[in-house]
Amino acid sequence: MMEYFAVDGAHPLEGRVTIHGAKNSALPILAATLLADGESIIHNCPSLTDCAAALEILSCLGCRVKREGNTVVVNTTCRRGYTIPNKLMERMRASVLFLGALLAREGSAVACWPGGCALGARPIDLHIRAFQALGAQVRTWNGQLYLEGTHLRGRRLALPIPSVGATENAMLAACSAEGITVIDNPAREPEIVDLQGFLRRMGARISGAGTDQITVEGGYPLHPGEYTVMADRIVAATYLCAVAAASGEGELHGAEGSHLTPVLTALTAAGCEIASQADGLWIRRKGPLTGIGSICTGPYPAFPTDAQPLLVAALAGGEGKSRVTETIFDHRFRYIQGLARMGACIQVRGDTASIVGQPLQGACVEAVDLRGGAALAVAALGARGESRIFGLTHIERGYECLDRDLSALGGQISRKREND
Ligand code: UD1
Repeated sequence: MMEYFAVDGAHPLEGRVTIHGAKNSALPILAATLLADGESIIHNCPSLTDCAAALEILSCLGCRVKREGNTVVVNTTCRRGYTIPNKLMERMRASVLFLGALLAREGSAVACWPGGCALGARPIDLHIRAFQALGAQVRTWNGQLYLEGTHLRGRRLALPIPSVGATENAMLAACSAEGITVIDNPAREPEIVDLQGFLRRMGARISGAGTDQITVEGGYPLHPGEYTVMADRIVAATYLCAVAAASGEGELHGAEGSHLTPVLTALTAAGCEIASQADGLWIRRKGPLTGIGSICTGPYPAFPTDAQPLLVAALAGGEGKSRVTETIFDHRFRYIQGLARMGACIQVRGDTASIVGQPLQGACVEAVDLRGGAALAVAALGARGESRIFGLTHIERGYECLDRDLSALGGQISRKREND
């Protein structure tokens, strides 16, 4: 039976919500548990379908996996093999991170290409080049990738673009590469710093995450680690944009303002008041949401591509003009067709969306990807009347319970079945 979110919009929000753990930190950290024998304990690991897919990969590799609430225990002692079945590899793009971990731990990894993605072509050439630079042999045959490298050697790697996944895979593989690996031009996202934090808990000699150079002194045995995943900055951006769209005020417990600087700057420019509190962020919008001129997505610390749909959704129902340029992914404006059904006036030319804010009306729409789906919920909270948002499986990849959290913020949103 088809489930959907029913949203009654245009009511000011008032409430507080706790931001759950970051999907994009939890996934590489779960892959990293393979680097040591024994029991690693990961706290604040969000209950998302993407995390469930990562745990299935670990189970399939013989690890014992247990979840109690948001704590996950991964015991790698009985792990066996280095092949990831196609059906798990295809479930999500981030399964590619298990390649670096398996290569480091087993000296081999076999898998097909990671899951297709609605955001456009997402090659893994940079991941492969990093493995090769460390001495791994990479062959492809019959749609499968075969990695082999029992004696990886540290060296200097320069990423031509600061890919998040390639940086993480290089960090994982470098832990087992004898000598010093220097990664130049790595991604600087907070999730990279979180992965470094966990690797250090495992005894890895790694530094520089968050800067333009990461150094790993590899080849030492690691031990299991215990770690708490940071709060999800894109989930926090979602709730900030929800308050911006619907007006009112909200408190976001656990949100880290320093991870969200360009999002806070854009929302402030649009007329929101935002303040850092002891344990999170506070936002209020009283007056109209105005246009913000031009912004452009980019690698951290620039405006995050994952927050682009959320901001556009809020601005579409505001007043005034804005231009948003997407520089990371080719097909990241597909959600705009849903906003158009709500009456949004947005013209997309090439990589730029030009938005003329105007009141939106509720509509029946379908999520086409994860953040695009959340963007429809943001727009629906600001739109007059009722909306129905279908395609919830996309949203569940990255939000534990979007309806619960938006309700806690004061939104009128509930999950329903088509024949309810
Ligand atoms: C990660 C995030 C995703 C986010 C993205 C950009 C995870 C699990 N996902 O994805 O939510 O939207 O960062 O912030 O952390 N590229 C290549 N060759 C490669 C790798 C990447 O050309 O081998 C290109 C991609 O096509 C894209 C750009 O580099 O245009 C950035 O991608 P990347 O940073 O690698 O994103 P992901 O790690 O896939």
